[in-house]
Amino acid sequence: MSENLSAFLYLVASVCFILSLRGLSSPESARTGNILGMVGMAIAIFTTLASPAVLSYTTIIVGILIGGAIGTVIALKIQMTALPQLVAAFHSLVGLAAVFVAGAALYSPGAYGIGTAGNIGAASLIEMGLGVAIGAITFTGSLIAFGKLQGIVSGTPVRFKGQHMLNLAIGIAIVVFGVILVVTESHTAFWILVALALVLGVTLIIPIGGADMPVVVSMLNSYSGWAACGIGFTLQNSALIITGALVGASGAILSYIMCKGMNRSIFNVIFGGFGAEGEAAAGAGGDGDRSVKSGSADDASFIMKNASSVIIVPGYGMAVAQAQHALREMADILKAEGVKVRYAIHPVAGRMPGHMNVLLAEASVPYDDVLEMEEINRDFGSADVAFVIGANDITNPAAKTDPASPIFGMPILEVEKAKTVLFVKRGMSAGYAGIQNELFFKDNTMMLFGDAKKMCEEIVMHLDN
Ligand code: TAP
Repeated sequence: MSENLSAFLYLVASVCFILSLRGLSSPESARTGNILGMVGMAIAIFTTLASPAVLSYTTIIVGILIGGAIGTVIALKIQMTALPQLVAAFHSLVGLAAVFVAGAALYSPGAYGIGTAGNIGAASLIEMGLGVAIGAITFTGSLIAFGKLQGIVSGTPVRFKGQHMLNLAIGIAIVVFGVILVVTESHTAFWILVALALVLGVTLIIPIGGADMPVVVSMLNSYSGWAACGIGFTLQNSALIITGALVGASGAILSYIMCKGMNRSIFNVIFGGFGAEGEAAAGAGGDGDRSVKSGSADDASFIMKNASSVIIVPGYGMAVAQAQHALREMADILKAEGVKVRYAIHPVAGRMPGHMNVLLAEASVPYDDVLEMEEINRDFGSADVAFVIGANDITNPAAKTDPASPIFGMPILEVEKAKTVLFVKRGMSAGYAGIQNELFFKDNTMMLFGDAKKMCEEIVMHLDN
């Protein structure tokens, strides 16, 4: 394939990726966005395989078969709730790939068209140094994030005296060895740089609490994009440079959106250690002798059947229980009875951005019924029922009233303004931030204890009778 044609096809692939990101910004266009992404990737892979630089297909085919088989099995088996750690695990591989590519380029520069051993251009060495440093940090950082999310590593922030100074010292050492690499092309400097960056990946992520891991995963996603971008420069591959930059920028924007949803700065996430078990225990408060009003599916069906407006607030527990289909069925019956039913989505409900939108779309909930927090918050005051299913922190008024609360400042869905608040959850456990929710004890609250899916199914049964 001629160079011009491959440059053109890479450009087409890049345009597909940009359109894909645009499509993914809304649930209505997300499917088209995914398809465009797949088409772009197919074009990029085809163009790369057709390049005259490819001398043998054997290793490539074996790689595609092994990688494809592993990817297919994981994609089929993965639980929706385990996606954040899967993404973290995949990012670690992108980081590792960046390290390997930079290593290969250093040892065989001729194969990459970047000079001969001992005579690699300074620009290529800078790209290599940057790519390998970001790649190695991404690799170990993502492994720690994976471990914390999977519960293999404790979610408690690991802190010690002088931690920030240590990180700074490692960072400076990385820059020093990067300069030595560029000036001398020393292989030793390269491997010391790799080792330091691997350590920095660990020391940067261990002080961050488990509760902030989704933001960290998105940040590492951004790093992996920039690492891929670095590889793109080493390989002189325009598609990889553009795609890496897109992933890098979109990951950074996503981290920003998540922080904004929690009303925290990225520095607070990185240095704040939110989600420490100590804080959680302190904030949880304990229930003391206070009692809550609990009801049954029958009570809930009676209340909702007689309501004129119901706002459903889904949260992480709905995802755990996979209750979205039963929930939609419940909403459909209520709508058929003339009740106005809408869904309220908090920007950080669940464990990843868009988590609730994806699940509701999967259950074919009409998009028009699904409203973002700013669009619906003022309507709780006029709603008869707020049906909170598997959500907790995103409704917790401590975010507005208690400056000592770890979620203070986070905007919340103001469910307490509804005439009746129904909370579907299995028990009195705290949410992700580990703090008690005062709403459970309010007069207008009724707790519906049970698994979210089972509760919806039972309510449907009573509504049908
Ligand atoms: P949470 O506050 O985590 O509350 C979920 C509730 O679901 C729990 O209290 C749990 O209570 C209940 N639950 C669990 N399994 C259930 C089941 N099978 N059936 C019924 N209920 C079940 O969730 P949320 O309100 O969605 O808030 C999200 C939290 O994650 C926030 O703190 C947010 O800051 C954090 N976070 C989110 C993101 C993104 S991007 N979404 C990123 C970073 C952090 P029981 O155990 O008593 O049932």
